[in-house]
Amino acid sequence: MHTLNVDLGARSYPIHIGAGLIDCAERIAPHLRTRKAAIVTNEVVGPLYLERLCTGLARAGIEAIPIILPDGETHKEWQTLNTIFDALLRGRCERSTTLIALGGGVVGDIAGFAAACYQRGMPFIQVPTTLLAQVDSSVGGKTAINHPQGKNMIGAFYQPRLVLADTATLATLPEREFSAGLAEVIKYGLIRDTGFFDWLEQNIDALRTLDAGALAWAIERSCRNKAEIVAADETEQGERALLNLGHTFGHAIETGLGYGQWLHGEAVAAGTMMAAELSRRLGWIGDGEIARIERLLKRAGLPTQGPALGAPRYLELMAYDKKVEAGKLRFVLLRGIGQAVMTGDVEMGDVSAAIEARCQ
Ligand code: NAD
Ligand code: GLY
Repeated sequence: MHTLNVDLGARSYPIHIGAGLIDCAERIAPHLRTRKAAIVTNEVVGPLYLERLCTGLARAGIEAIPIILPDGETHKEWQTLNTIFDALLRGRCERSTTLIALGGGVVGDIAGFAAACYQRGMPFIQVPTTLLAQVDSSVGGKTAINHPQGKNMIGAFYQPRLVLADTATLATLPEREFSAGLAEVIKYGLIRDTGFFDWLEQNIDALRTLDAGALAWAIERSCRNKAEIVAADETEQGERALLNLGHTFGHAIETGLGYGQWLHGEAVAAGTMMAAELSRRLGWIGDGEIARIERLLKRAGLPTQGPALGAPRYLELMAYDKKVEAGKLRFVLLRGIGQAVMTGDVEMGDVSAAIEARCQ
């Protein structure tokens, strides 16, 4: 097992990464305020892993109340959130009861938001079971639900007390979902870690065959990057925005097509190519970098062209982006591989051209 720390003063917390951790409830127990927990999961992950988690917790003397949500991005909305509140009240959960999210980014985001709101905040633990959740969404405290007009529009920054990432759970993850997670892994290489990008070029095939060593290394390196950024800029006043490379375009794809049509990671991959293309038009990167990024995303099993919504529709959807300031869109772009910057200094004509160049 490897352990990293997210350094946030009194709210610091560990990320444990390793195979079989779901059976190690003794890792969870010290982070609970009382002997009671509610476990939010969904109808796909529940049958796979809930009993194992509950058995371990029972062994540690902890009563666990399961809350099973419907599966999928379409359910990351307020009605599902309300079913969590109903269940917490029905189970007589108190402010000191710990809420455990067991699942991918959808479960983690909605359960985290529920924890932030219930009785104005209850302790929260992440047990991520997708690659995307283990390398990104479970770390850093962004919690949210979607609004029909925008991804993750309603939410809160609310940090977990522990992240327990069992890498063995990835064995049951569908291949398409694993690839979606690789989009966020590649993102770290692109925004700030050239060495990691080089390593990914060498090891992407090993990752896709779930080579245990490669997987553990990629998850740890991703979490290390994320933990450093979150420690430096918890509420996204600056550097943290770089984690949104490809997301301005990607969120437009997800919202424009209807949630759940394209996976989040797929939309981020196509959005990353749009951001790269815009960077090329500004003269910041060249054809060589574009080719390297595209090749790696393709080898990861990801799309490199977005759906043909038309540039005007992309721009309409992107106007709701959370990085918009004083009505002006800001973009995370590349000055090289491993060197992302944020800028609002772009012509909308270039943005439209970059979108059109990267649409199917
Ligand atoms: P997801 O949560 O929908 O999980 C993908 C699918 O895999 C689901 O059907 C799920 O039930 C299933 N699943 C999960 N674990 C499994 C396992 N071990 N075996 C078999 N099936 C399993 O999708 P995701 O890619 O994990 O997360 C995407 C969400 O994360 C999006 O809503 C996105 O906005 C959010 N996100 C949040 C952050 C953040 O910082 N909070 C960062 C990135 C993405
Ligand atoms: N996934 C983007 C962030 O955590 O800031």
